[in-house]
Amino acid sequence: MPGTKSYIADVWSETRRITATWLPWTAPGRRPVGPAGVARLGHRSYVGGKWEAIGRLQYEFLVSQGLLPHHVLLDIACGSLRGGVHFIPFLDVGHYLGIDKEEALIAAGVAHELGSELIALKRPQFVVSPAFEFERFPLRPDFAWAHSLFTHLPQPLIHACLEKLRQAAHRETRCYATFFECGKPRVNPAAAHDHKAFLFTRSELEQFGAAAGWRMKYVGDWNHPRGQKMVLFYEPVAGCSLNP
Ligand SMILES: C[S@@+](CC[C@H](N)C(=O)[O-])C[C@H]1O[C@@H](n2cnc3c(N)ncnc32)[C@H](O)[C@@H]1O
Repeated sequence: MPGTKSYIADVWSETRRITATWLPWTAPGRRPVGPAGVARLGHRSYVGGKWEAIGRLQYEFLVSQGLLPHHVLLDIACGSLRGGVHFIPFLDVGHYLGIDKEEALIAAGVAHELGSELIALKRPQFVVSPAFEFERFPLRPDFAWAHSLFTHLPQPLIHACLEKLRQAAHRETRCYATFFECGKPRVNPAAAHDHKAFLFTRSELEQFGAAAGWRMKYVGDWNHPRGQKMVLFYEPVAGCSLNP
């Protein structure tokens, strides 16, 4: 809401993001990544801005797909908790599992967005790792959520993520993931980059999933303000209902 602290922070974050996008010396590929990037861009801008809108969208989408407080949610690439600030209060104690490669993002999310009261009350669990070490969490997820991760990864890392998730999942785990869709396969950068866009076709996503043992359902448009599309990975098990 205009005038609130969060609104002002959001406008500031968006201004930094737009400035960083349009000034030639701060084009996506040249924007700093890692801890220096978080310090320079700020924890909201680093993950792409539109903090309130995209955070709420993530929460509302998963609830519409059947997420309930007793479920265990694995937020893959949780960043600075843009979605986490909505998921954590909603879920039962200890049922939010967040993993990200950038410790500074998680730390900023905890310190500036979530606050110590909610941490003490809901005890979310975090792992800092670039290697999808889901086995470090003590619980298996009912829902896995990869928002705006495959938009920044090359195929081998998407495969690694889905394969590690297959091992950490149970038979009814559902994984929702977003991606930038293109009509024809294109050549993406060879290495992951937090600010570059990686685009894939629907059938490429399906192949990545199949190679790791997942079946995929194309969900498509879900009103994402940056046009990311949604897919669902699930295990092909007889009797497993996909309806919420
Ligand atoms: C665009 S941000 C999205 C963050 C969060 N999902 C959100 O919606 O705010 C992409 C995130 O992916 C994380 N990331 C990239 N590669 C990763 C990896 N190999 N393992 C874990 N996190 C990764 C980045 O650190 C960053 O937080």
